[in-house]
Amino acid sequence: MNQPSLPPDYLEIRGLTVTFDGFVAVDHVDLTVFAKDLRFLIGPNGAGKTTIIDALTGLVPATGYARYADKDLLGKKPHQIARLGVGRTFQTASVFTELTVLQNLDIAAGAGRSPLSLLRARRGVPESVASALETIGLTREAGRLAGALSHGQKQWLEIGMLLVQNAKVMLLDEPVAGMSADERDQTGALLRRVGADRTVIIVEHDMDFMRQWADSVTVLHAGAVLSEGSVAQVQADPKVQEVYLGTGTTTNPTIDAVIDPAIDPAAELSDMPPAEPAASEVLAPEVSR
Ligand SMILES: Nc1ncnc2c1ncn2[C@@H]1O[C@H](COP(=O)(O)OP(=O)(O)OP(=O)(O)O)[C@@H](O)[C@H]1O
Ligand SMILES: [Mg+2]
Repeated sequence: MNQPSLPPDYLEIRGLTVTFDGFVAVDHVDLTVFAKDLRFLIGPNGAGKTTIIDALTGLVPATGYARYADKDLLGKKPHQIARLGVGRTFQTASVFTELTVLQNLDIAAGAGRSPLSLLRARRGVPESVASALETIGLTREAGRLAGALSHGQKQWLEIGMLLVQNAKVMLLDEPVAGMSADERDQTGALLRRVGADRTVIIVEHDMDFMRQWADSVTVLHAGAVLSEGSVAQVQADPKVQEVYLGTGTTTNPTIDAVIDPAIDPAAELSDMPPAEPAASEVLAPEVSR
C-alpha cells in the first residue's frame, strides 16, 4: 500500500536577496539543507550570515524564495514562521534572566498554546519541557534563575526553547562564541542530538568547532555563496583561501592554517571581535551579557 507522501523536510532557498537602502547585504543566495546534515555557514564579518537568518525568520524583508516542508517563509511574520517550525537563536544569548530555566521553557512552550492548555500545564511540568530539559542537560538547573546560568548554559536554554516550540529547522547564530572548551564540546554533542531529526544551520567563526562537527559547509562572502562542500573541499578551495588570507596562491598559507589551530595557534578566525549587535537583537526579550 502506498504511504501518503510527506512534505519534503528540507530547507530550500533560492535567489535570497536582502537590500538595506540600496546596499545588497545578501545577494541571490541559493542554499539547500537537508535534515540530519549539520550545515555550517561561515564567512568574514559582514558577509551576510545573520541577515540570512533574519530574512528566514521574518525580521527583515527579502526577495527570492525560501521554503520549508512545502511552506513559503518569505513575506510572513516572525510568529507565523515560528509556527511553521522554523526557529533561531541570536548572536547574543537572549533569555529572560529574571525567570527560572523552567519558566523560560514554559513561556516558549506556551507561545503556540491556548490559554486553557497553558492553565493545565501549570499543574505540572509538561512532557515537552521535561524532555527539552533532559536534552539540553539542564534538568538539575530547572529552578535556577536563567540569569545565574553560565554563558554556555544560556545558549543551551535558548536551544531548549526552540525544542519546546517544536522547531524542525534551527538557525543558530554563533552558538559557541564565548564558551569554554568543555562547553563547546558539550554543545557539539547537543547539536548532533538535536540535528538527528532536524534541519540545523550553524553560523560560526570558531573554525576548530566547525572542523570537529560540520557535515557540510557553506562559505559566504560579501552576501554571496563563495564555496560549498565538505570541510575538506572548502578548505582546499583557493577562493576561500583568498577571502580569509588575502591570497589564492598555493605557495602561501592555506585555509588549513586558519582552520587548524595546530598549524596556526593564532586561530585568528575564532578570535574575531564580536560584530555590532544586529537590528534583530533589539527584538530579543533581554540581552543576558
Ligand atoms: N539593519 C541593517 N541596516 C543596514 N545594514 C545592515 C543591517 N543589518 C546588517 N547590515 C549590513 O549588512 C551586512 C551583513 O551583515 P550581517 O550582520 O548579516 O553579517 P554577518 O555575516 O552576520 O557578520 P558577523 O560575522 O560580523 O556577525 C553588513 O555590512 C552589515 O553592516
Ligand atoms: Mg552575524
